[in-house]
Amino acid sequence: MSHDNPAPPVPALFPPQSERDRWDEYLTREMARANERIARHSVVPTIDMARLRADLAAFDFGEPRGLDELLPWTIAQIEQGVVHMSNPRYFGLFNPMPSFPAQCGDRITGAFNPQLATATTSPAAVEIEAHVIRAVARRAGLPEGSSGHFTSGGSEANYTAVISALTKAHDRFGIDGARAFDGPPVFYISRESHLAWVKIAHQAGIGRSAVRQVATDGTGRMDARALATMIADDRAQGRVPVLIVATLGTTNAGMIDPIAACAELAREHGMWLHADAAWGGGVIASDRLRPALAGIERADSITIDAHKWFATTMGCGMFMTRHPEILSAAFQVSTGFMPSNTATVDPYVNTAQWSRRFLGVRLFLALGAAGWRGYAQHVERSVDLIALLAERVRALGWRIANDSTLAVLCIEPPAGSPDARTIGARVLASGRAWVAVAKYEGRDVIRVCLTHGEATASDIEQLVDALTNALRPTP
Ligand SMILES: Cc1ncc(COP(=O)(O)O)c(C=O)c1O
Repeated sequence: MSHDNPAPPVPALFPPQSERDRWDEYLTREMARANERIARHSVVPTIDMARLRADLAAFDFGEPRGLDELLPWTIAQIEQGVVHMSNPRYFGLFNPMPSFPAQCGDRITGAFNPQLATATTSPAAVEIEAHVIRAVARRAGLPEGSSGHFTSGGSEANYTAVISALTKAHDRFGIDGARAFDGPPVFYISRESHLAWVKIAHQAGIGRSAVRQVATDGTGRMDARALATMIADDRAQGRVPVLIVATLGTTNAGMIDPIAACAELAREHGMWLHADAAWGGGVIASDRLRPALAGIERADSITIDAHKWFATTMGCGMFMTRHPEILSAAFQVSTGFMPSNTATVDPYVNTAQWSRRFLGVRLFLALGAAGWRGYAQHVERSVDLIALLAERVRALGWRIANDSTLAVLCIEPPAGSPDARTIGARVLASGRAWVAVAKYEGRDVIRVCLTHGEATASDIEQLVDALTNALRPTP
């Protein structure tokens, strides 16, 4: 084949439309059936990994195989080989059953595959994302003019907070890095916060020792007095405090740090205040529940993950700030090959990413379809079901360790029972429910978080039954 007579497109990669329609219909039907089975069967993987590895070994990619073989095989492996968020008895870390409009968004994105590096290449998509971010920032209480962007998740959003705080703290940080400061820059998180902060400090080049872990008050909240003392000590020793992170909804226990006290200290010391509301932020939808986050509006920046309580597909985080100009300062770069370079507009010069997937369409569609009222109902029903669980297990002699208004319960078994780790392992082995074993204020607890938007009281009863059975050894 010569260059003036190129080969035709590869039909295995770009099949004719009639074939695509057939596979689309197959996938829609098969995924619906698989999800029905998943809701009835094991939450945890049942796959024989030796068999999977043997099957995989036969995929040497020498000879092509048909989609009629590949698609059913792949669906079957995933159906048997992952913990299922789409099972309503997945009471796990905050990975929800994705809402249907969010899944529609993924299909649209997958088919068009727009490049969101610049507004020039994808003006409509960039505008839709910016509109949603502004709406969420306003709802969270940030002032007019606040903005931000979608991220791969909470970790990228929190990384963006650290880079923003450092950029704000010293106008030479972007050029000289940590060397710009008179002493080592440091930031403050609570011991119960999401410890991705440690690797974020590593990535940001300020080192893991820049993360100052503040003691908690015995109930999972940052101890504001300990924070004040730590800042004063650090200053006295020549460190440069740049950022306080208030976690609004700790990962383990849904506890809310004292953000008003954090805001006062941040103001007093000229530091950036970030609110990590990665999963707790979902309650901004509900007038009933949002008082739990009072003070969030004082933050310089906020993380909320759409792929947590807003139930979009992963990964879909959000970073919002009242100082959008900092993003342009932090992520600016100039190249000849990009079609535009507009501060506060083009995502590649305002965010950590370059090529970008159209993430925000999932929240746009879900928020458009449900409205804030629908999301209020969504978060309130989770909280109500967790309250039902609290009532049921308390009556059976379990102790409720945390005092959260969010949809997470940390429980300790009745006196004389096996320890939390044994109970957690037995629940998972039963395949009837997925719960985590977590540390809360230094103690092992069973952590139950309601993440599935279609879970019902009957799922709570089944969990209670699985927990009760786990108190005695299996015969
Ligand atoms: C409070 C908090 N912050 C940050 C994260 C990290 O988010 P992601 O897993 O989306 O990177 C989590 C994840 O559970 C979290 O609970």
